[in-house]
This record gives sequence, C-alpha cells and structure tokens, in this order.
Amino acid sequence: MEGFWYFLLTGEVPTMEQTLAVVEDFKSRAAIPGYVFDVLRAMPRDTHPMTMFSAAILAMQRESLFAKRYSEGMKKTEYWDPMYEDCTNLMAKLPAIAAYIYRMKYKSDTPIASNPALDLGGNFAHMMGIAKPYDDVARMYFILHSDHESGNVSAHTTHLVASALSDAYYALSAGINGLAGPLHGLANQEVLGWIQGVFKKLGGKLPTEEELKKFLWDTLNSGQVIPGYGHAVLRKTDPRYTSQMEFCQKHLPDYPMFKLVNMIYKVAPDILREHGKAKNPWPNVDAQSGVIQWYYGLVEYDFYTVLFGVGRALGVLANITWDRALGYAIERPKSVTTDMLEKWAAEGGRKLG
Ligand SMILES: CC(C)(COP(=O)(O)OP(=O)(O)OC[C@H]1O[C@@H](n2cnc3c(N)ncnc32)[C@H](O)[C@@H]1OP(=O)(O)O)[C@@H](O)C(=O)NCCC(=O)NCCS
Repeated sequence: MEGFWYFLLTGEVPTMEQTLAVVEDFKSRAAIPGYVFDVLRAMPRDTHPMTMFSAAILAMQRESLFAKRYSEGMKKTEYWDPMYEDCTNLMAKLPAIAAYIYRMKYKSDTPIASNPALDLGGNFAHMMGIAKPYDDVARMYFILHSDHESGNVSAHTTHLVASALSDAYYALSAGINGLAGPLHGLANQEVLGWIQGVFKKLGGKLPTEEELKKFLWDTLNSGQVIPGYGHAVLRKTDPRYTSQMEFCQKHLPDYPMFKLVNMIYKVAPDILREHGKAKNPWPNVDAQSGVIQWYYGLVEYDFYTVLFGVGRALGVLANITWDRALGYAIERPKSVTTDMLEKWAAEGGRKLG
C-alpha cells in the first residue's frame, strides 16, 4: 500500500528501496492522538461505523498543518507541501482507526495494539485479528478501492470541499460521508445480502442456472436493481471485479458463495440486456468484494464501507495533494435559471450555453 501511495503521487512505480523508505515514513506518522479514541468511545456503540470513521477523521482536524500554515500567511505556491504532510499523516493513521472501530464495536471492545514491525496492510490485518492471507486481502482491497476516474461521489466530494482550501481532514471526512450512501459504497453489502437470500431460499444449496435466472428476474420485476451490476461510466466488466475473481480462484475456488458469484456472472449480463434498462450489464467492483470479506470471517456487513473508505482515502488524498500543487480554483456548480432550462429542453437538451 505504501508503494501504491508513492505511485499515485509520482506516477512512477517505486523501486523496493523507495517502497521501504515510504513504509518507514508511514511508521513515523502512525501514532493516533489519544483524544480520537475518547471521541470514538463517547459514541453510542450502535452508531454506524461510517459515522465513527468520519467523526474520528474530523476530530483530528486540529492537527492540520495546512490550516496552521494558511493562518500564518503561506504563499499559494507552498500549499501543496502542508497538504502533502496532512494527507500522508492521515493515510498512515486510517487503517489503525478503522481496526480500532471494528474491535471496539464488534469484538467485545478488545482492540489489538499495532505491531510497528509490520507494513500498513500487514498491521491492519494484525489489528483486525485476522490471520494470513488477510494481509494480502487488505492490500488488494485498499488498492482496488482507491479510486478510478474521480467522477464518483466520494472522490468528487473530497475534491470539492478541498477546493475551498478546507484542509484534508475536513475534505476526507466529507468524502467519507458520501461513500456511506447505498448507491455508492454500501452496494457491496447489498450484493452479499442478495446472494445469501438465494442460498436461504434454497436451504443452503447452489441454484441451478434456471433457478438463478428466476431469482434475477424476480429481483428486477419487483423493481429492484441487481446489486453489483451496472456502472455510471464503465461499459464492460470492471477490471477490479476481475482482479478479485482471480484472487478467489487462487484462494477459495470451492467456496459456494464464490461459485454463485461466478454463476451470476454467466447469466446476469444477458438478463440485464433483455431487461433493457442498464447501460452497462457487466459486474462492478462490489459484485465480489463482500464474498471475500465474509470468507475471511469479516461478517459484519456494516463495516464493509469503512474498508472501502480506507482504500478510497488513498486515491482522494493523493488527488487533493495534486489539486493544491496544480493551483486548482474553488469549484462551484453552474447556476441556471428556469428560463435557461426551458430553452434547453425546447432545443432538445443540447449543451447549456
Ligand atoms: C451503479 C448504478 C447506480 C449506476 O447508475 P446509472 O448511471 O443511473 O446507470 P444506468 O444509466 O445504466 O441506469 C439506467 C437505468 O437502468 C437501471 N439499472 C442500472 N443498473 C441496474 C441493475 N444493476 N439492475 C437493474 N437495473 C439497473 C437504472 O436503475 C436506471 O433505471 P431508471 O431509468 O428506471 O432510473 C446502477 O447501475 C445501479 O444501481 N447498480 C446496482 C447498485 C450497484 O451495484 N452499485 C455499485 C456501483 S459501483
């Protein structure tokens, strides 16, 4: 993960030596202020883990070097530097905060101390209390969820809030709130719920192809979407789905839930095409990710979006560092009057002038 951070910030694949230097740098930034744990512990235990995660990030805003240097009159050409420091400091702390929330909320309040000898992904698996190869699952999951084209709600929100020169703590907390929505980060848990619903109806057995087709049509005919399928931008199988499928083929080829995911991949695209609505009938990143977490014992659905959030932070924090380096302006939506909209509609919806 640390090497990926280097890659996102520089566009260059790091050497092993450079990767290890980033690993060491992250370790020096990993300590979490004690008040973050106080904030988390003060929240009712049935608070959604995404609320806890977002609150912990926001609580650390007082640590922002960007806010401090801005108030001291820093020049615009220097903005990127404290933004980089804030973003790296945040990234070094997020996996431990996520693991703390998990152990506090779901594992009878038994946090596991960090092991400073480990890298970010290894330490995360250790603090979650999940054995190997979950460290590899964590690295894969975080990297695959970092971002893709930044047009999604969480990436855009983070960029938008940072464009007001709000620091990284304000901006990331806002982006995480967007990720918490059911059409965004929450979709992976819906996939899992749907798959388990199929198993439940069949008393734990895998469906036949005909039975599966019927389940898919029943879902569509009841006005619901097929979770894990479709995408606002992609028009083919999401490469992040393919990476996870390859991981499953290697590590859990006989797991019934993985088999069912593969069966769905065989029949759902044709059904969605016949249904005629979705512009993209292919699976997205969420179609498989919950199954992997479940296999490794992470069965608390609500927590999945926090995992997504740690990964998404990698991408969006690198983005806002570059936003400041490139001197991007404050962003605001275009305002239009009703007259302009009516003219636009009368002209057949062509570009607003
Ligand atoms: C991802 C998603 C929100 C993209 O939405 P979008 O950009 O509006 O997608 P489209 O332009 O293809 O939507 C056109 C129509 O197809 C429908 N559609 C899209 N994906 C569908 C799916 N998986 N199952 C059934 N219908 C779907 C939409 O609901 C929409 O219907 P409407 O015209 O009645 O409103 C959508 O595909 C979806 O809801 N997928 C399931 C949830 C999911 O997997 N989310 C994770 C995304 S990474």
